[in-house]
Amino acid sequence: MSKRMIAAVAATAVAAGMAMTQAASAQDVKVGLILPYTGVGAELAQQMDRGIEQYLKLNAAAVKPYNITIIKRDSKAPDGAAAKVDAQELLTQDKVDVLAGWVYSPDAIASAPVVNAGKKLAVIMNAGTSFITNLSPYYVRTSFTLWQSSYVMGEQAAKYLHAKTAVVAYTDYPPGKDALDAFKYAFEHEGGKVIDAIPSGGPGATPDFTPFFQRAKDEHPDVLFVFVPAGDQATAVVKTYGALGMRAAGIKLIGTGDVVQDIKLQAMGDAAVGLITAHHYNADLDNPQNKAFVAAWKKAYGADSTPDFTAVGAYDGIAAIVHAVQATKGKMDGDAAVKSLLGWKFTSPQGPIMIDPETRDIVMNEYLDEVVKGSDGKLHEKVLLTVPNVKDQCKALAIGPCAPKK
Ligand code: PHB
Repeated sequence: MSKRMIAAVAATAVAAGMAMTQAASAQDVKVGLILPYTGVGAELAQQMDRGIEQYLKLNAAAVKPYNITIIKRDSKAPDGAAAKVDAQELLTQDKVDVLAGWVYSPDAIASAPVVNAGKKLAVIMNAGTSFITNLSPYYVRTSFTLWQSSYVMGEQAAKYLHAKTAVVAYTDYPPGKDALDAFKYAFEHEGGKVIDAIPSGGPGATPDFTPFFQRAKDEHPDVLFVFVPAGDQATAVVKTYGALGMRAAGIKLIGTGDVVQDIKLQAMGDAAVGLITAHHYNADLDNPQNKAFVAAWKKAYGADSTPDFTAVGAYDGIAAIVHAVQATKGKMDGDAAVKSLLGWKFTSPQGPIMIDPETRDIVMNEYLDEVVKGSDGKLHEKVLLTVPNVKDQCKALAIGPCAPKK
């Protein structure tokens, strides 16, 4: 064989090899999933894994002809350190096509420079501090912001509950500060007055809420508005409210839906009855998508199991990823993937959702819910009113950390 022929054969082989790799990479999409599989958020990670699993099971046809491979990494404590390393390794070693997850805001904040450098779509499935999506053009959020739920709760505390005074107790980290600012802005806009704001521990170990709530009780507000991250803190909030006899003292407990996470509701007991929250999801929502989702969930994980809002953030997040995969024909170029999601609409178990083309945040319904005891003896969420198509109000109003930089 002449030298020239060998070169030609070799070139053909390389071309064929490349075509094969391209075909394979067009079919397989690698998702790097960053969740707290150990530590305080482990239960939330399980809910979100299951949310993803259920979407892929219920919507297998929407995924075809692509294969989604999920590579999981543990973000551990909610301090950002492990999550940042996870993002780095997933991009550079595992060469993922898309990043996803992030339960805690500090994790998403710490990961932002890595997300920027990686130039891949990064879908936030929980973390709710408003300004996070300003930190990278590759962040798209399918969860919520505290400026959605707390703003609506502030408005309705005045309008629906006719409260005049409020004390706010909030977990002292970025989403808690957003919850305070949003509630105060909306409540005072409607004529109410926040008479005290009490930082109540961090997002890690559950604090003893007794001194914080005793201080609130002594101030005799009409309502006590609480934000804590979902998980064991929520159960402790309701128990402490009950133990201090605050209802009998005429103080109504209100909050974001993080305080009445569906998986914690039954353990809260009768102290939770009458609690009013604003949120985008509860497992009792009456729509066909949610009925199918909850039924599939109970079949897969047991009759006493239930999805919650963290599971739905992950369900909607993987739906968004699947949309981007189809739109980019599996290539998942970061800019093209983000672009495909601007204005994307989806009918979720929480109701209709959209990605705001300007902010890359979710637009969704907020429900004002009341905890009631059902005829089955269990606690349920009753929707009192629906505020449709709520945008992140921090960016809509361009205030606080969302004000334009001077
Ligand atoms: C957050 O850290 O942004 C966060 C975590 C849990 C929640 C809400 C917000 O329930």
